[in-house]
Amino acid sequence: MRTTWKPLGVLVVAVAIATPALADVPAKPTFTKDIAPIFQEKCEACHRTDSIAPMSLTTYEEARPWARSIKARVADRQMPPWHIDKTVGIQEFKNDRSLSDDQIATIAKWVDAGAPKGDVKDMPAPKAWPNEQVWNFAPLFGQTEPDLIVKSTPWTHKAGQNDAWWKPMTETGLTEPRWVRAIEVRPGSIKGRKITHHIVLRLQQEEAPDSIAANPVDATGAQQAGTFMEWAVGKQGEIMRPNSGKLMLAGSKIVWDIHYSNGGEDITDTAELGIYFYPKGQEPKFRQVLHLMGATNAGGVDIPPNTVKATQGFFVLRQAARVESFQPHMHLRGKAMSMEAVLPGGQIQILSHVADFNFNWHNSYLYADDAAPLLPKGTILKITAWHDNTAAKKSNPDPNVWVGYGDRTVDEMAHAWVNVTYMSDEDYVVEVEARKMKLNLNTQQQQQQ
Ligand code: HEC
Repeated sequence: MRTTWKPLGVLVVAVAIATPALADVPAKPTFTKDIAPIFQEKCEACHRTDSIAPMSLTTYEEARPWARSIKARVADRQMPPWHIDKTVGIQEFKNDRSLSDDQIATIAKWVDAGAPKGDVKDMPAPKAWPNEQVWNFAPLFGQTEPDLIVKSTPWTHKAGQNDAWWKPMTETGLTEPRWVRAIEVRPGSIKGRKITHHIVLRLQQEEAPDSIAANPVDATGAQQAGTFMEWAVGKQGEIMRPNSGKLMLAGSKIVWDIHYSNGGEDITDTAELGIYFYPKGQEPKFRQVLHLMGATNAGGVDIPPNTVKATQGFFVLRQAARVESFQPHMHLRGKAMSMEAVLPGGQIQILSHVADFNFNWHNSYLYADDAAPLLPKGTILKITAWHDNTAAKKSNPDPNVWVGYGDRTVDEMAHAWVNVTYMSDEDYVVEVEARKMKLNLNTQQQQQQ
């Protein structure tokens, strides 16, 4: 088998050329001129009033007391949370919130110089954030609210309580199949936003066993619920690419998995899911399915004490497809995860690698339009998970015990959630040609500059 340790051939060119020239790090960075724009772009999504982070960073007065801690956290890339290895695989994402090397250097220089404020005239206008208490996608479809709203059962999180994972199941009430074109998720209240760390939504429905969307069955013979959507701070929802959608069946149910954390006071909340359907008779051409890939069952995970252990799982694409996203899922001992494509000819391409997994941050990495890998039928997606069951892993509760597969955070998992858009072989050829044309065009434009 020939192994090429690089991303898709065509994409390498695009990535290299699209990288902007390194901007200079300012000689004397000030908050108003240099730092505030970075914080607006990369931090405020979480660090503003009533959001998930412990402090707001929108003004100089708010940010100044945290200067040392900010330098430490950005220098080792713990903040913003973004754990993709920047040296291998695809690097273009729709939701990249990481800092550039220059931005990190600018912040460090600012802190080292005593974190000066600078001229107030340089301060950018406050960043306008969408009102998260309204349905923001509705106007896009000429509606005032989603076609279907499903709510989780309420949860009360006490002040000072440890993190909790709340997993109720609710009916969708659907009596016929419908194609989904957009999904919006939100905590039910402003207070709820302070405790809602993360929401994973799964769609429980009975697919035909030969369907491309059929999931592995569990011990009772029922198909496992496939992930529908995941929500995290800074992500509102998902609008499907043109002519593609998810299919919901009659009798489907939503299985919630909500990560609540301490909000400093007793807070009760109900999460809300809003679904927008394609009008009847306007079915999209491409079906999107969120798959669980990797080691998916009890026998698959076997981690001895005081050991770093790799676990692998394989997923065959039964049709040509575009891979839309990568979201590693492990627990407290999760260390790293990679996703590789083994092409029908035997070549291996590394698509993504998360080098520094952190259980607190279940990021879904969404590939940019021109970077989402197009893969032929028969491609195998290979998921490798590394668990660190040694004392070196800070979040490891006990390196001296054996760990196996299980639902509790002290057990382990070793899979990724991967969103896949399926297409026919003919459409695959069309998509590949269109991608090549676009990338060539970009290259030419770049060369003319
Ligand atoms: C996706 C949400 C998110 C983004 C984006 C984000 N943070 Fe955070 N940040 C958090 C949360 C939640 C915490 C508290 C939990 C933790 O420490 O992981 C935190 C903690 C911190 C801390 C430590 C505070 C302490 O208690 O010592 C610092 C410093 C920090 N963030 C700075 C930043 C900076 C600077 C940026 C942007 C360059 C940023 N963060 C972007 C969510 C975020």
